[in-house]
Amino acid sequence: MKLIRTKNYEEMSRIAADHVINAIKSNPRAVIGLATGDTPVGTYEALIRDHNHYGTSYKQVHTVNLDEYIGLDKNDPNSYRSFMKTHLFHAIDLPESHAFLPNSMMTDSEEACRQYDESIRQLGGVDLQILGIGQNGHIGFNEPGSSFSMTTHVVELTQNTRQANARFFKQLEDVPTHAITMGIKNILESRCVLLLAFGHNKAEAVAQLLASEQPDETFPASALCLHPSVTIIADEEALVLADKQERRSF
Ligand code: PGA
Repeated sequence: MKLIRTKNYEEMSRIAADHVINAIKSNPRAVIGLATGDTPVGTYEALIRDHNHYGTSYKQVHTVNLDEYIGLDKNDPNSYRSFMKTHLFHAIDLPESHAFLPNSMMTDSEEACRQYDESIRQLGGVDLQILGIGQNGHIGFNEPGSSFSMTTHVVELTQNTRQANARFFKQLEDVPTHAITMGIKNILESRCVLLLAFGHNKAEAVAQLLASEQPDETFPASALCLHPSVTIIADEEALVLADKQERRSF
């Protein structure tokens, strides 16, 4: 794992965007794995600025998102498709048909998962996967205890995750109870992983990730030990605890 330390959120976002832009420059048909949440919003803003000023084109790019809530229509403002439209898709030239998210309105969710894996396979796999990290070490919606051998699957969201995401909804009861997420196996199959973290509330998870030497299913992000090309971009606040603990040299 490579660690890039940044002063703040803005610098983390700019450097993350540079990684994405370089991936597209070296392969205009790149498949980019996207995440939702507060963490990647600044990265998406930096991508939009770059698109406007330097014309990086997404016409041949495909994107695959990590996850989607079950039961929210894709036009629901809280669906992750809406999130992506608001924060990125509306402002770049990515064709709508190139943007993949799990189809969580299908009555047969297992079939939706199978189809998502098949879409990723047909795209030739993910070249660069952007990840955030949950306070409990979750990546995507792979909560502690998830098997690392799972591909796309249905998850029941933990109370912690629902509470953390309740800020986007009117009330906690409105947060869906289930989601479809890429599994850890999908994430490990991507060619490069870019994990972003900022702020004090991620410090414990980042410290545990940087100290991980063995994959441990009680801490999902530790699966990244098994991946040959992981770059962690974290700001000073997210690294306060890691700095205090003895850790491997990066
Ligand atoms: P956040 O979520 O970016 O909103 O902190 C990250 C995650 O829970 O994976």
